[in-house]
Amino acid sequence: MRIVLFGAPGTGKGTQSEKLVAEFGVPQISTGDLLRQAVADGTELGKRAKAAMDAGELVSDDVVIGMIRERLNEPDTGNGFILDGFPRSLTQAEALDELLADMGRPIQAVIHLEVDNEEIVQRLLDRGRADDNEDTIRNRLQVFQNQTQPLIEYYRQQGKFTAVDGMGTVDEIYARIKDALPA
Ligand code: AP5
Repeated sequence: MRIVLFGAPGTGKGTQSEKLVAEFGVPQISTGDLLRQAVADGTELGKRAKAAMDAGELVSDDVVIGMIRERLNEPDTGNGFILDGFPRSLTQAEALDELLADMGRPIQAVIHLEVDNEEIVQRLLDRGRADDNEDTIRNRLQVFQNQTQPLIEYYRQQGKFTAVDGMGTVDEIYARIKDALPA
């Protein structure tokens, strides 16, 4: 299984990835988690990323592409992976395609979790992570619209894009995702 779970902040990418990991035994690769770990560890990369994350802006493509390249080369990705929160820009999507083509392991499906913006804001305010204040949430949504949404067309043209209704209970949404998985 080599899939991208795609969606705006708070659409449930992390929540649904956990269920896929438990059922299919492939790792979840979340650039947000990797970046938060780097910030917590106080690495040079973490120091560079922190301001962008606090503001809800994208961390630079070079940084996240480098992180993903390293992570995809680890042995636990041999049977596949779930990408969560990556790619988020056209440059990242093109770099990913190139990287996976070199490995002979292209992405099979991109699953878009669609959730109303007001529901997203409510979910994230309820969660309360460091970047879950209303101003930053609204900026993250704007950044998604401007920089990430163009990937829908990119993957549609590759015939890999599926939209899934991300409203409802976690289990209802999970059932829809399973229906959308590649055979
Ligand atoms: P990242 O960590 O990727 O955050 P995000 O995309 O904003 O996503 P979230 O973790 O907020 O949401 P999610 O879709 O995973 O939803 P979740 O399951 O947690 O990125 C953070 C920052 O890092 C970015 O702003 C950027 O600065 C940087 N970054 C990361 N990747 C990058 C990249 N590729 N390029 C550049 N910069 C990058 O659910 C959210 C909440 O809702 C939870 O509390 C959950 O319990 C709840 N919930 C889930 N499902 C449901 C449901 N069905 N009903 C009710 N509540 C639900």
